Amino acid sequence: MSEIATLKINGQEFEFPLLKGTEKETAIDIKTLRGATGGLITLDAGYKNTGSCKSAVTFLDGEKGILRYRGYAIEDLAEKSDFLETSYLLIFGELPTEAQLEQFQADIQSESLVDEEMKKILHGFPKSAHPMGVVSALTSSLIAFNPESVNVDSEEEMYKAIVKIMAKFPVLAAWTLRKKEGLPLEYGSKSLGYVENLYKMMFNKPNEEFAINPIVLNALDKLLILHADHEQNCSTSTVRIVGSSHAGLYASISAGISALWGPLHGGANQAVIEMLEDIKNDGGDYHKYIAKAKDKSDPFRLMGFGHRVYKNFDPRAKIIQVAAEEVLADLGIVDPVLDIAKGLAEVALNDTYFKTRNLYPNVDFYSGIIYRALGIPVEMFTVMFAIGRLPGWIAQWKEMRENNEPIGRPRQLYVGENLRSFSSRENR
Ligand code: CMC
Repeated sequence: MSEIATLKINGQEFEFPLLKGTEKETAIDIKTLRGATGGLITLDAGYKNTGSCKSAVTFLDGEKGILRYRGYAIEDLAEKSDFLETSYLLIFGELPTEAQLEQFQADIQSESLVDEEMKKILHGFPKSAHPMGVVSALTSSLIAFNPESVNVDSEEEMYKAIVKIMAKFPVLAAWTLRKKEGLPLEYGSKSLGYVENLYKMMFNKPNEEFAINPIVLNALDKLLILHADHEQNCSTSTVRIVGSSHAGLYASISAGISALWGPLHGGANQAVIEMLEDIKNDGGDYHKYIAKAKDKSDPFRLMGFGHRVYKNFDPRAKIIQVAAEEVLADLGIVDPVLDIAKGLAEVALNDTYFKTRNLYPNVDFYSGIIYRALGIPVEMFTVMFAIGRLPGWIAQWKEMRENNEPIGRPRQLYVGENLRSFSSRENR
């Protein structure tokens, strides 16, 4: 016997099936609600209680601090996998064999040139443009160079589209950085691994022998893995909803990049460093900023704190905090901002305001400290997040299309004016 939920409205009862997920999460299936009740809808601002889809990509338990990609614990993946392998896992559902991974890498390498005409678009932006705006626009521009729409029923076509975006996106991101830094554009190398190649495209200097620092490479790889997917967050939901209109993969991802840009989402990594810098420049008294964050008349929020779904701890933050300390120690960097971050976290974690609201450091509280240590400019931090999130967006877009999900189109509770008669301008 399947379980049901009963809704009683003005004495009349309506029944809705309860659906169970593989981790025993339960959802009330309300798809018949409007029809059965003669027009009732649910209202859930910010979708705090609303599931938008069934998904087999990522499992997240915010109360217990669990994050798994395709059933594999994030802690295991961060320690034992690499970013390309994790990307394959997310997109295709299984860990690749040696041969599958080699093929995936070779296919990506063979697509890693971007049409030279793209440079004209890149150079049309002023140097001062925010990299997230540039990267979003360049991703969207890829459509002009690859206008053919993907037949989602063809495994081969889907694979080709996936390989193309995986190959070209890091080039666009690295070009954006190099343009900002005033460096000549770099094409990377077909003989390098995915993250090594990204590393080269970002950091290679025309007057230096290129050498990879294994500490930097390892940190970069780990950061990308930790950001690779996070179920139905704001940018992923954007990618899915744009794709649900059957807009193409590049258009959907470009929209996802815009959603990620905001400081309440991926833009938090930039906002955290800016906040820590402000505290440092203000004399380093973080207690003052804790007080500001608690003051309801002050719009200031402690950036890098709190999460919509993690109400215990963010497992990614735990891994990244350790990585940040390792990277700084290995590179011999003394960063006063890390001390401020640690002090701030310690005070906040013991403060009733933060404890009662379950506000813990999130992934972005520490990621910026690593990016900074790697020499990445602050405005590029969210682009790094986007490079990491790319396989997640692809996996979720692919799943949405393969499941033939209907177009995303929420309803609303209208609270505006009732019908009014139009008054001519001279009578207003
Ligand atoms: N500093 C101070 N107070 C906070 C903070 C914060 N960072 N975050 C939440 N609160 C308070 C908020 O004022 C509210 O208090 P009250 O109940 O008294 O009104 C309560 O905590 C609940 O907050 P909310 O805004 O209703 O929670 P939400 O789930 O809508 O927002 C959030 C989640 C991440 C947007 C929010 O915690 C926030 O703005 N954090 C700072 C930005 C940030 O670090 N974002 C990165 C998220 S992790 C990367 C990613 O996956 O995108």
